[in-house]
Amino acid sequence: MRRIAIINQKGGVGKTTTCVNLGAALAQRGQRVLLIDLDPQAHLTTHLGLDGAQGPGTYELLTENTALAEAVRPTESGMHLVASRMDLAAAESELISVVGREVILKNCLASVASDYDWLLIDCPPSFSVLTLNALVAADEIVVPLQAHFLGLQGVSRLLDTVRLVAERLNPALRVAGFVLCMHEAGTRLAGEVVADLGRFIAEARAQRLPWSAARIFETRIRRNIKLAECPSFGQSIFAYAGTSHGADDYRALSDEILGESAVAAPTVEKVPTTAKTATTAAAPATPFVAGPAIVKPAAAAARQQKRRLEEQSRKTERPAPRPRIETDSPASPRAVAQAVPAPAAADTSAEITPSTPDTARAVV
Ligand SMILES: Nc1ncnc2c1ncn2[C@@H]1O[C@H](COP(=O)(O)OP(=O)(O)OP(=O)(O)O)[C@@H](O)[C@H]1O
Ligand SMILES: [Mg+2]
Repeated sequence: MRRIAIINQKGGVGKTTTCVNLGAALAQRGQRVLLIDLDPQAHLTTHLGLDGAQGPGTYELLTENTALAEAVRPTESGMHLVASRMDLAAAESELISVVGREVILKNCLASVASDYDWLLIDCPPSFSVLTLNALVAADEIVVPLQAHFLGLQGVSRLLDTVRLVAERLNPALRVAGFVLCMHEAGTRLAGEVVADLGRFIAEARAQRLPWSAARIFETRIRRNIKLAECPSFGQSIFAYAGTSHGADDYRALSDEILGESAVAAPTVEKVPTTAKTATTAAAPATPFVAGPAIVKPAAAAARQQKRRLEEQSRKTERPAPRPRIETDSPASPRAVAQAVPAPAAADTSAEITPSTPDTARAVV
């Protein structure tokens, strides 16, 4: 079973939409899919037309030792779901004194590992013991994000958290990739944000980091009104509008994920870009293996542009900002920091260096 946490602490970026529709697309390909709603907002549960109050769900799993098999429900789209409801918000305080609270979900999964091909966990837009359970239970994370002005906000902090969890709790954890959601193809800003992200990932390839082998998925999930409408009908995009762009995009994403026997190299896009220009180079299959940065020629143009901007910036005595997220900032998840003693390690804080003032503001 491939275990994927769909995570981004930024809200409204497409986590739940990706969880439902990627899962449904995989189910249409004959895959056995288990979804876990780890968000007290219960959007995943509602999206699938179920009510978290009817029967045990994630809350009981985490706080009452309920067996996972008892909490699983079938959905119309052929997937199985562990549902959520608002009570789950109380789990954080209820688990505060529980030893090993961050491994509860992982332990629950052991009994069903051979029953499913895929596990997709829909995470809440926050760092909490719930998110920590997802990061410990998963082998991979997929990060939906929007390539716009604020799209990269918080990615550094998220990756710092992933690094801490990988170091201290789950050495197998790696970032599989970034999915661009609600994508507006052809805008200059989207191209710049994607290029910054691509360069950031490329720079990590020479290091031993959980995102060293991450990719930006080729498939862009375009903005599509049918994707916004289908939750209110309790349906996946395939049941609601199977011929829409939204259905096409999630089908393509599932094919991309199914087809990958290896984790591909990061994409570095042209600045500005059109949606069709992005390509992805081949890369070694093994995560955590250091290798040379693979950067397309477009990166040279981007670097040139960056140098021009820096030059301009020096002339006007306004240095380009280099935002940096410290791992021990108050924003870091205390739950992780307290779980085990911090190892003495070199400073490998996630840092995304912006190429433009606009994207610079996006990562502070
Ligand atoms: N590609 C898309 N085109 C149009 N609307 C979309 C698309 N993807 C998601 N939406 C809509 O955007 C809103 C936010 O999406 P979604 O709920 O998936 O984000 P989220 O990251 O799970 O949010 P939260 O952080 O609150 O859990 C929803 O109303 C959803 O229907
Ligand atoms: Mg959500």
